[in-house]
Amino acid sequence: MLAKWFSWGLVAFAPSALALTGPQTVFDALSAILLPSSEVVLVSDDTYQKDFTPRYNLAEAPAYIVGVRPAVAEDVVKVVTYARDSNISILTTGRGHGYTTSLARVQGAINMDLGKFNSIHVDAEAKTMTVGGAVNGYQVTAALQEAGFEIVSTATPQCPCIGFAGASLGGGIGPYSGLYGPISDSLLSVDIVTADGRLLTVSETESPDLFDGIKGAGFNFGVVTSLTFQAYPATNSGHAMNVDITFLSSQNESVWKAVEQLAASQPKELAFGLSVMHSPDPSMEGLLISANFIYAGPRSEGEALLKPFLDLRPQNVNISTVAWKDIPDVANGGAIAKYGCTPGKYYIPYSLNLYQVDVPNLVDVVNYMSQAMGADPVLQGTSIVWQQYAQHGFQLRADDTSTFPYRDAKAFVQIDSLAADASQAPALDKFGREVRDLLQRGSGKDQLDVYVHFAHGDEGPASWYTAERLPKLVSLKEKYDPTGMFSWYNPVILANPSYQNL
Ligand SMILES: Cc1cc2nc3c(=O)[nH]c(=O)nc-3n(C[C@H](O)[C@H](O)[C@H](O)COP(=O)(O)OP(=O)(O)OC[C@H]3O[C@@H](n4cnc5c(N)ncnc54)[C@H](O)[C@@H]3O)c2cc1C
Ligand SMILES: *[C@@H]1O[C@H](CO)[C@@H](O)[C@H](O)[C@H]1NC(C)=O
Ligand SMILES: *[C@@H]1O[C@H](CO)[C@@H](O)[C@H](O)[C@H]1NC(C)=O
Ligand SMILES: *[C@@H]1O[C@H](CO)[C@@H](O)[C@H](O)[C@H]1NC(C)=O
Repeated sequence: MLAKWFSWGLVAFAPSALALTGPQTVFDALSAILLPSSEVVLVSDDTYQKDFTPRYNLAEAPAYIVGVRPAVAEDVVKVVTYARDSNISILTTGRGHGYTTSLARVQGAINMDLGKFNSIHVDAEAKTMTVGGAVNGYQVTAALQEAGFEIVSTATPQCPCIGFAGASLGGGIGPYSGLYGPISDSLLSVDIVTADGRLLTVSETESPDLFDGIKGAGFNFGVVTSLTFQAYPATNSGHAMNVDITFLSSQNESVWKAVEQLAASQPKELAFGLSVMHSPDPSMEGLLISANFIYAGPRSEGEALLKPFLDLRPQNVNISTVAWKDIPDVANGGAIAKYGCTPGKYYIPYSLNLYQVDVPNLVDVVNYMSQAMGADPVLQGTSIVWQQYAQHGFQLRADDTSTFPYRDAKAFVQIDSLAADASQAPALDKFGREVRDLLQRGSGKDQLDVYVHFAHGDEGPASWYTAERLPKLVSLKEKYDPTGMFSWYNPVILANPSYQNL
């Protein structure tokens, strides 16, 4: 009898429990507490598609019920406090390029889009730059170049549309990392709203433990509304040499040997990337290797450095000198900027760090790709992208000065698969993992290390942050985010964060 009454009671309560966190309830509650200049929109409303930042990757994407675009940090505090008190999941959106599969766990959530936090201020005298939590690389490079400065920017040459804040919270790497390390090394302070609803300014002198965690695992600890970075006087009068070179895949062994040679003494001004990809051009023998070099110095010096590659008699060579901020338009013929700035991809990413150049292993990988793509054309949507920055910038700081853990990595490798649609996903997913396993054999380390922003999401915290750093990160998490409100993006603690500890 009691059991029957009890279950009836549950049924009776279910609708009201749902209503408590239903979209309209959340919409009404947030509309009532936020400033009129902050935007609150139901995801089902047409305005949502128009006003909110689109996601780059549609695969394993987070699912929301209500979107909020706060106008001021005080409203960020209110949204975080409301979400916590109402036990509703919340995810911050910077520029929407985060693609880890760990985000698929976000369901029925509030999307806190920081799109209104897009200001940039360069202080030439102090040599600093202060940006909002959702500026992108294009904005940063334009503002700094105009003022005669530079920084590590992912705009050069990768994707100028990714969030500059988002990238720096996980480190942030790009060609000028050879000069300055990860972007996070240039952070001076951040303003962050933590799970307890406080707006903290964090730096080397204010909450230094949190500052340390933010530099490499920042998305674990709150919502960052503002960031101040050190800016550097422009190198080479703010210009760089860009070189695009195309090789046949039959030259792969010689190319890897040239990579090995260059890796041994890569000057800090030189960064390069290689892409091994399918070519639809029959004269290219199926696979091609497209190489990009960026040299922050005079062209004559740069060309001399590239002699081992130029001597291989490549298919095409295109050399130009451009302003630093314009590198994305010319690097790889502008391909990555174009492709990386178009949202709505069905993207299946894998990645790993390499700590050596193992030529025989890399030849095996190229041959395996060639054979597999010949057998199944769906796999032609996969390319391997190799980024190699000089060690100099990474070694300017000791390993224990931040949470960014990959200062000794020789190359950051991405296995990028683009599916035409979801039906191709299983084959590309399997292939991506196979290629990662094959590359791992020649990585120079037993364990799988993955740059947190390039991670698939299946690797786990020890791969993203290293086992040595985890105990410290777990205690930071217990201190600043004990209920796991910010445990969606490759989190330090893997437990499903439905605020179990509330
Ligand atoms: C095409 C492409 C090219 C890329 N190239 C590079 C590269 O060259 N170098 C590199 O380092 N990375 C690169 N990345 C990875 C990139 O750094 C990450 O995808 C990063 O998460 C992008 O930040 P976002 O703001 O655009 O993404 P979002 O999806 O908006 O955010 C990613 C995560 O960070 C959190 N977050 C973002 N902003 C804030 C904030 N202000 N406060 C708190 N949390 C925040 C979000 O909640 C989310 O969990 C690339 C990604 C893509 C898709
Ligand atoms: C890669 O290089 C090796 C060694 O020169 C060669 O045997 C192989 O055919 C090349 N692979 C492809 C796909 O061209
Ligand atoms: C070479 O690069 C320049 C940009 O620097 C570009 O305008 C031009 O089209 C490229 N040429 C070829 C043949 O790709
Ligand atoms: C919070 O929400 C989660 C998932 O929706 C649920 O499992 C949990 O019991 C809720 N906690 C409270 C205190 O309501």
